[in-house]
Amino acid sequence: MIAPHGGRLVSRFSTGSLDGMEAIEVSNDLRNDIENIADGIFSPLEGFVGRDDFESIVKRGRLKSGLAWTVPIVLDVDEKTASMAKNAGQVALAVAGEKFASLKIDEVYSFDKLESAKAIYGTGDTKHPGVSKMVNMKDRLLAGKIQVSKKIADGPLRKYRMTPAQTRAEIEKRGWKTVVGFQTRNVPHVAHEMLQKAALNLYDGLFVNPLIGKKKQGDFKDEVILAAYETLIENYYPKNRAMFVTLHTEMRYAGPKEAIHHAIMRKNFGCTHFIVGRDHAGVGDYYHPFAAHEIFAHYPELEIQPVFFPAFYYCKKCLSFANERNCPHGPESREELSGTKMRKMVSSGEIPAPHLMRPEIAKLIVSFKEPFVP
Ligand code: ADX
Repeated sequence: MIAPHGGRLVSRFSTGSLDGMEAIEVSNDLRNDIENIADGIFSPLEGFVGRDDFESIVKRGRLKSGLAWTVPIVLDVDEKTASMAKNAGQVALAVAGEKFASLKIDEVYSFDKLESAKAIYGTGDTKHPGVSKMVNMKDRLLAGKIQVSKKIADGPLRKYRMTPAQTRAEIEKRGWKTVVGFQTRNVPHVAHEMLQKAALNLYDGLFVNPLIGKKKQGDFKDEVILAAYETLIENYYPKNRAMFVTLHTEMRYAGPKEAIHHAIMRKNFGCTHFIVGRDHAGVGDYYHPFAAHEIFAHYPELEIQPVFFPAFYYCKKCLSFANERNCPHGPESREELSGTKMRKMVSSGEIPAPHLMRPEIAKLIVSFKEPFVP
């Protein structure tokens, strides 16, 4: 079994009481990430990163130890909360008044929002959702280790969530030596399916791992993605070769940097390989379609192996999905496929043809009154 990132699967849970601790309110999105830290999905992180790690992540895409890490996981607070936390030394973290974790304060620091955003997202344009979020963060960052006392309640969106300890046990049980991970933030179109099945020709198991969590306006809602994948897997995947697990975190749209982050999380789940196709974790035209391939050359030690795919399109002459590596026909024969194109089709009331989207899925999407994030 592939080792977790940094060598050890982190586990940060406590049965200790949070009574009497001052509380800091966090968003539900951050609570997801706090639980991800506790479950080891973000191994080796044990909490929110300190200044040295933060600056090292921003400048070189690595923790100060040199270990690959490209997306800082931080807690931003205002000045008043920062001094309360510093004085208290330890605080509770809460959502809507309900305390669920503790944070031991190691450090309080500030950061250059715009410069950090430029380094992570490759642009300072505030129309980019990740940049916009970062420049609007509060001024101070709290660093320190967390311990979760109360897990997020189960619900319909969380029924496929698993911890890395659980996925690793399942992979072991299935006897898979090679496991290829697939990240997605979309409902599946046939090109997505073909990428996964092309990889399944080569590896023992497929780890389908849609991202459930905050996404930008116009992306598909979580419940639509989940229902679409349930339908796809039920009808088109061999059960003994595919695992379906959801990842609860937010999309950051950081293109190449996020591709590394995505690969690290899947390594922690036990994947040996990770699919990176066209414009992975991209938004608009901010990244070259294959920038997320190129960045892996800077991380030869990552252990999880990227599996690069060129852009898949439907070729009307080959009568199948194809790409420039295996198809001689020109652009006039191609039907390009992307999440953006599918979203446009659906929102204009058009039902994608069966060779672009499985009919069960097209039917399901249109059954949702409002399938997109408002
Ligand atoms: S992402 O933001 O999660 O990357 P999406 O769910 O569309 O978006 O993509 C999931 C994976 O499939 C990514 O690795 C992406 O590069 C790849 N992908 C999506 N569409 C295509 C396509 N037409 N050809 C090649 N790769 C694709």
